[in-house]
Amino acid sequence: MVVCTEIGKGKKYYIRTYGCQMNERDSETLAGILADLGYMRAASEEEADLIIFNTCCVRETAERKIYGRLNELRPLKSKRPDLLIGVGGCMAQKDKERVLAKAPHVDFVFGTHNIQELPQLISRAAAVPEPIVQVWEESQASLLELPTQREGKLKAFVTITYGCTNFCTYCIVPYVRGKERSRSPQDIIKEVTQLAQDGYKEVTLLGQNVNTYGRDLGTGISFAQLLRAVNQVAGIRRIRYTTSHPRDFSDEIIEAVRDCAKVCEHFHLPIQSGSNRILERMNRGYTREDYLDLVKRIREKVPNNSITTDIIVGFPGEEEEDFAATLDLVRQVGFDNAFTFVFSPRSGTPAASMMEQVPEGVKKERLNRLMDLQDRISRDINEKLRGKEVEVLVEGTSKKEESFLTGRTRTNKLVLFPGEEKLIGELVTVRITRPQTWNLYGELV
Ligand code: SAH
Ligand code: SF4
Ligand code: F3S
Repeated sequence: MVVCTEIGKGKKYYIRTYGCQMNERDSETLAGILADLGYMRAASEEEADLIIFNTCCVRETAERKIYGRLNELRPLKSKRPDLLIGVGGCMAQKDKERVLAKAPHVDFVFGTHNIQELPQLISRAAAVPEPIVQVWEESQASLLELPTQREGKLKAFVTITYGCTNFCTYCIVPYVRGKERSRSPQDIIKEVTQLAQDGYKEVTLLGQNVNTYGRDLGTGISFAQLLRAVNQVAGIRRIRYTTSHPRDFSDEIIEAVRDCAKVCEHFHLPIQSGSNRILERMNRGYTREDYLDLVKRIREKVPNNSITTDIIVGFPGEEEEDFAATLDLVRQVGFDNAFTFVFSPRSGTPAASMMEQVPEGVKKERLNRLMDLQDRISRDINEKLRGKEVEVLVEGTSKKEESFLTGRTRTNKLVLFPGEEKLIGELVTVRITRPQTWNLYGELV
């Protein structure tokens, strides 16, 4: 189908993004495609001619929020029938029919492997009254280099792998994102070099398990080698990466982090559970002993680091004893921060049909106990930074207090301090004067 390349001329779009950084990155591609079609960005859904929801389905709470929000668009759509509403991303990939059943005012649904078809989808949706559905089961396109319109001017996401082949038993991601595919190191370096030339200071390398980067390429390149190569790109000041899998975090990677000046000392290592019995049922491929040993090796080789994690409570079969093992591990490691979730059964995953589902009340109660513990630990760790000097990349002004600048330490902690806007984009030294559980207040040195 031939698409008029000016189909968006004089029109505005609004993209609402849910879920992880991969989705945020995909939305930048959607925005890039729309800009090529002549669309401008709208400030709100009310003034948009095209609304796209880029969805997530990792937990039921995410889906509920999305359906609720989609529902709120009904009056807008009845008032302006020529408004186009598209739903893409992971939830669309998983539940195309359900989206149309629950939200019949949606004009088109597209999957995670169909982003490049957005122009055709829009023209077809505008031409016919019935909804259009385009969801491929697998990625048929090679890893195309698509146009991009980035959210920030300082920090950029750079995808290094698509999909995931780990099949943790609770997780829907492998089913909606396809198997792991690595981008070529040449394409990655080219993108990072271009970002540096455009003035970006920080890149975050993205993948569901970045640690296995390159395995599918068959060229022998590893994630550690990629880090070393990205570290050579002039102009970039900081390199981050997410997400890591504890099973695949090799000594070679620890050493690359240690050796590469730009690679930040922040380790996000999702543990998920502190109980070996549960880790096994989750198909995580490591034990709590392996994990503790990894933490020990990281702390030996990379000083002044921070370690954060993800934890799921109430996985099927989790007994009080297993949960106690998680609390114990959290205490033993002393995480800087933890993202904690209640297990959400995702239909089609092995864990959803496991016997011994944990009652909702028990899950909630465990989550609260875990969060209380982690808050205390975060506060204690941050308290140790009182009076210390840290390097901050200044990102902008605080939304709450405009005379305050905000930025992050290399360890990924949010810092607020009084300062002038001209410092945005600079690396500055800040002395921490008032540490809190979630962020640090300080003053410029
Ligand atoms: N690839 C990353 C991110 C996956 S999704 C990783 O392996 O860490 C982010 C987090 O959501 C996971 O780490 C896990 O803690 C949580 N999560 C995934 N599926 C879940 C489910 N069914 N219920 C509750 N939490 C889940
Ligand atoms: Fe999901 Fe596991 Fe893959 Fe992470 S590594 S995306 S938790 S299957
Ligand atoms: Fe959600 Fe898809 Fe990311 S399910 S967490 S948006 S990969």
